[in-house]
Amino acid sequence: MRSEKAMVTSPATIANFGPGFDSFGLCLDSPVDRISVRRAAKGRVVLRVTGKYEVPSVPEENTASYAAMRLVELCDDGGLGFTMTVRKGMKPGSGIGSSAASSVGGALAMAALLGVKDKGMILEAAAMGEELISGVRHYDNVAAALHGGFTAVVDAEARKIIKIKPPELQVVVLMPDISVKTRDARAILPKKVAIDDAVRNLSLASGMVHAMMRRDVRAIGSYLEDRLSVPYRKKLVPGFDAVRESGLEAGALGVSLAGSGPAIFALAERDAGRIKLAMTRALSSATGLESKSFVTKPGGGARVESIS
Ligand code: HSE
Repeated sequence: MRSEKAMVTSPATIANFGPGFDSFGLCLDSPVDRISVRRAAKGRVVLRVTGKYEVPSVPEENTASYAAMRLVELCDDGGLGFTMTVRKGMKPGSGIGSSAASSVGGALAMAALLGVKDKGMILEAAAMGEELISGVRHYDNVAAALHGGFTAVVDAEARKIIKIKPPELQVVVLMPDISVKTRDARAILPKKVAIDDAVRNLSLASGMVHAMMRRDVRAIGSYLEDRLSVPYRKKLVPGFDAVRESGLEAGALGVSLAGSGPAIFALAERDAGRIKLAMTRALSSATGLESKSFVTKPGGGARVESIS
């Protein structure tokens, strides 16, 4: 029997996750976007956006409906009409994969409606949503949001993703009250990097994958460094060094930039509340900026909550 409507949840993610620029991602347990889709008259696409965050309400400009339309095309089901409701659970432009959460949610909801099981196809449609926002079809956020856990995009063209179940850990996320566009944060990166920076990242990334496989929380924290993007991007995030230092002093195992920022995240085994407070205070005293923060843990990825 054909399905008429579906509802999914799709989570925030931390892309790059230290040394894995455009490759690593960690799926978070919360916050999530809630996206529902229902069949409508052929050729008709209607989008409703709810929640307190502002995102485009034009179907061709919103990553959820855009990714759903791209999935319809990939399935050669041209002309399928639908009504989509997006309840945004996270702030766009904050660095925690807001556009990816919507892209994956939109593509997964449509896949549920069409009976599509091929995760590679869902991932591709979701990555097109990322391209809409950043100009580049990067897969790190969408892979983590779709598959859950820790993911590494090992071959973007072949859509080859490895997934590792992370150990239990606390993730503290601090979101300074500024917005950074991924497109701008990519534009400031150098086109070429020094060989010793490349080697350092390669070493850290190898260590990170091994630490994830061994489920060694302390080692994971120790590899949370980067020479390819953070040194350039931290200029867009006032107070980054002060926040990082205060997080480490308060007991964090590692602190880095989430995706293209401005969110800064810390990993911990315990004391997440204390670390969050220390980071919030450090940001405020170094810059006068306000912020929002939360504590979460690794999550299992986007889910179809209902289908009928
Ligand atoms: N890997 C992407 C970047 C993630 O750092 O530009 C954006 O959220």
